Amino acid sequence: MYNSKWDINTARLLEFGGGPSIAGLISAVPYVNEIIFSAHTEGERKEVEQWKFEKDGAHNWADHFKFVVNELENITGDTAWFDREKMLRQCITAIIGCDIVQDYPLSIKQDPFQIIYTSLCLEAACKTYTE
Ligand SMILES: C[S@@+](CC[C@H](N)C(=O)[O-])C[C@H]1O[C@@H](n2cnc3c(N)ncnc32)[C@H](O)[C@@H]1O
Repeated sequence: MYNSKWDINTARLLEFGGGPSIAGLISAVPYVNEIIFSAHTEGERKEVEQWKFEKDGAHNWADHFKFVVNELENITGDTAWFDREKMLRQCITAIIGCDIVQDYPLSIKQDPFQIIYTSLCLEAACKTYTE
């Protein structure tokens, strides 16, 4: 999925309709320079903000980072998963709104992205099979 077709020093990734979850970005972050995270509801955005800024009550994603980094990517070392979590916190530079049914689906105008990642969002936004 993540390859060398872009310059990792400048590449921008958009997460579209990420909900309250940063799980899909754990493996992406070493390959991009910046991530814009978009979510449809204020509650979802608040969840991600709480995690990014390490607020009390934020969801604890440690087990996800350990599984992805240590098990799936087979990167060992006491701090590998922790370093990745810190890297992702820093790499997400904005948490914005999104609505796929709008002509411009992001709440804040953006420069172009090299990568757009989305998971189970368009399915949720469609109310019927034909819409
Ligand atoms: C099943 S969740 C998937 C969340 C996340 N992408 C994930 O994989 O965990 C579906 C998401 O679609 C979002 N959604 C629903 N209607 C939407 C719309 N019109 N535009 C953008 N996102 C929408 C919801 O807010 C919700 O976060």
